[in-house]
Amino acid sequence: MFVQSRSLFVRKWSTASNITVCQARFIKQLTSPELRSKFIQYFESLNHTPVKSSSLIPHNDKSLLFTNAGMVPFKEYFLKPADAPFKCATSIQKCMRAGGKHNDLDNVGFTPRHHTFFEMLGNFSFGKYSKAEAIRYAWKFLLEELELPVNRLRVTVLEGDTEAYDLWKQQGLSDDKIVSCGPEDNFWSMGDGEGPCGSCTEIFWDTQDASLDDPWLEIWNLVFMEKYRNAKGQLTELPTPCIDTGMGLERMISVLQGKQNNFQIDQFQTLIDGLRDVMAKRGIQSSINIDPSAHEKIIADHFRAMCFLIGDGVVPSNIGRGYVLRRIIRRALRSAKQLGIKEPFLTDLYPSLLSGFTDGSYPELQTRASSICTIINNEETAFLATLDRGMALLENVFNRPDLQDSKVIAPEIVFQLYDTYGFPFDLTFIIAKEKGWKVDINAVEKLREKQRMEGRETWKSDSIANKSRLSEWRKQNIRPQFTGYLRDALLQPQEAEILAFDAVQQPNNKKLEVNIAIDPCPFYGFGGGQVPDQGIIELGNGSQWKVVDVTQPYEGGIALRIEPVADTGKELDLRQRLEADKEFLQKRAVVRAKVETVRRENTEIHHTATHLLNAGLRKVLNTQDIVQAGSTVEPEKLRFDFTYGKPLKEEELKKIENWVNEAALKGAGTIVKHMKLKDAVDSGAIAAFTEKYGENVRVVEVPGISKELCGGTHVDNIRKLYPFKILNETSVAAGTRRIEAVAGLSCIKWYKKSYEPVPEALKLLRANGPHELIDKLQKVLQQTKDLQKRVEFMNEKLATEVGKEMKPVIGKVKGAHQNFTRTLKDIDVKVHLIDADLDVAFMQKRANVLKETQPETAHVLVNGKNIMVSVNSANVRTETANSIMKQLFKHIRGGGGGQKELAQGRLAETIATEKDVRTKLIPALSKC
Ligand code: ALA
Repeated sequence: MFVQSRSLFVRKWSTASNITVCQARFIKQLTSPELRSKFIQYFESLNHTPVKSSSLIPHNDKSLLFTNAGMVPFKEYFLKPADAPFKCATSIQKCMRAGGKHNDLDNVGFTPRHHTFFEMLGNFSFGKYSKAEAIRYAWKFLLEELELPVNRLRVTVLEGDTEAYDLWKQQGLSDDKIVSCGPEDNFWSMGDGEGPCGSCTEIFWDTQDASLDDPWLEIWNLVFMEKYRNAKGQLTELPTPCIDTGMGLERMISVLQGKQNNFQIDQFQTLIDGLRDVMAKRGIQSSINIDPSAHEKIIADHFRAMCFLIGDGVVPSNIGRGYVLRRIIRRALRSAKQLGIKEPFLTDLYPSLLSGFTDGSYPELQTRASSICTIINNEETAFLATLDRGMALLENVFNRPDLQDSKVIAPEIVFQLYDTYGFPFDLTFIIAKEKGWKVDINAVEKLREKQRMEGRETWKSDSIANKSRLSEWRKQNIRPQFTGYLRDALLQPQEAEILAFDAVQQPNNKKLEVNIAIDPCPFYGFGGGQVPDQGIIELGNGSQWKVVDVTQPYEGGIALRIEPVADTGKELDLRQRLEADKEFLQKRAVVRAKVETVRRENTEIHHTATHLLNAGLRKVLNTQDIVQAGSTVEPEKLRFDFTYGKPLKEEELKKIENWVNEAALKGAGTIVKHMKLKDAVDSGAIAAFTEKYGENVRVVEVPGISKELCGGTHVDNIRKLYPFKILNETSVAAGTRRIEAVAGLSCIKWYKKSYEPVPEALKLLRANGPHELIDKLQKVLQQTKDLQKRVEFMNEKLATEVGKEMKPVIGKVKGAHQNFTRTLKDIDVKVHLIDADLDVAFMQKRANVLKETQPETAHVLVNGKNIMVSVNSANVRTETANSIMKQLFKHIRGGGGGQKELAQGRLAETIATEKDVRTKLIPALSKC
């Protein structure tokens, strides 16, 4: 197996010598681009078809998170070599080992060889040649093309594989250079589940590095693909033996460049130099060691990985591949922090990354550069904002005296770091490990499970739980025929047979959920952003059930969630209804199925409109560097999320809208084709990278306008899309924009609804038509502005009419109320009832004037519910406006406060008349 490290031969072999310095001068020095082309040319000369690297997202394999070996894109050909378009192939495949069976994430930085992203060189035979040739070709390449010294090479074979053993002997290897190992070392499979597999022989290089635990470095794995492992783990022979080989580019380069460490090879060296430069420019001291530090290695490895992942369309998120990407970015940032880098810096490394791939082997690094950098930069900025706070929380834990003995981080802290500060669990685990602390992984998992049950981890929704239960149907091979692409199947109710029935009480809300599968099934529910169909199932007894949701619990399955429709208009209790209909709602019963066509048609309009929008965006923005990041297609509107670094301009949006409208007005038919994924992509069809596709795909095309891989349902002619209107364009996440739009009938409805208030507005503004609206409104606004100015002026004037009282002083409270005088310490208080027409701004002005003109008195101003106290603190020293206000509200309902000279409040009840003042305010004041 191509494994990135292991300690296998320490016991079995002694190293060839004790020399610790690599004898690089005897070895042919090659750069990475040179090795790439030498390898491909060599196998081309042996009649292998060169095949470009496929995406890191496996398009023909739903069991894998990432492409983790060179053979992944060819998996099907091992099973059916006759279908392979070539008998032999050679490739350099982008691989990612950061999830699933082959996961090296945690080792990166701590060993000389581990990577998340790496390149695998391989040659493959689909029934053309077998063990003998595979061994001969590999050996010849190493000795004649790379000119490796034979005395530093050894091989392993599977115990009992005498054929392989003898083949190596024929190549001139002596017995001491061939070691037999058990299946744990020399039997290879892609993952843990079903798939092709077989015994293998591996070629090792003697690094002659006595400082290593294991100086033997595996450089090439030749797999004899001869078996098939089924879901139960049973092995059967493949009809035709095949060959799959894998050589890690980085480690072979380390051999050829005489490096003890993968991180010292050309590609990584430029990256690490780039990193050290960035640090120097920011005045941060960096290491001068040739061997990079663990943090430098982590940053270099993870940076390559994030760029390639985004290049293949992965966007940081909280699930699946997006979450692996997020973890990789965050781990790199945390390492950067440890090196003293505090500001975003990752994209400064991009030029160094590019200089490691100058041979154009991965064009997406160039064409998608702007998206890659924008997405990284945005994610970086977002995480750096919380990284410090999360680290401070951890530091507190590390400093807690009561934990110094146990040195265990509580699961709640791990969860809080994850939930609030965005620390992926594994990041906390690494930090803990570095500090010599532990995390109880089981306790964290338990807590996480509890949170999930309480519904906090929303992405694991109930329907997924339910899905896994419905996958029982898979075992019974419940696979209805989907007829929902056929227009005829939608127009009339269709007869169908119930294939499966399932009623279960939901654990969360105790609701009974009923699902059925019917065949044939016209209801769409396969995702791709398109909302599921709704409709009616009519049973043999005439009873009607509505289809409220459609799901695909497994490949080929369609589950309809149904609820009763009561013909009386009154919902019967679901259980009663089930009981009443049970005879007609069971396996093999015949029903009539009717899709709600208006909803479906409006949804289709928005689905096709989404395709046109996607095409229009590329046209108007003049880039193919747009990746669909999500999409929701509903009967009422569409929502399309895509990667793009900046907001779209108003005129760009207008242009896109016009482009779609013009295409729709001209009209054109949609064509659906089924083709091979490769042919579809080669012919320019847009594929949403994050979707999983089988080898045969469905392509929806509007000739000359749009061509996209899609499983959804569409209008037959784009004329139905007219009119089309973009409602808004916003940001949803780092580097991701969202457009919402409406098309067709829903758009007309939208226009109608938007027009509804217009006639009334015309009337109010006395406008003769909508064309006058803006003019009239501007006038009104101008008038309001002028009036405001006047009011301002009048306020000023009124408030400063010093000589006169606005309203009579209602009470000179002192004297009349003994108590009052005592507590307010001999201050005169005057109450002013302010005219209801005047506002708070006026009251403030008046309060100021009173304070200046009658400084020896405290003033209470009241106007409806507004109340103010003003005091001149130079004269009245025993009380402040605030203290008077506070005392007052002990005796009257309301609240307020303020400063020494001015306090403001709101009364619970209105004081509008002199009587109110005498009966409500004065008594309250007198109690103060
Ligand atoms: N598929 C084989 C490996 O990855 C060659 O080791």
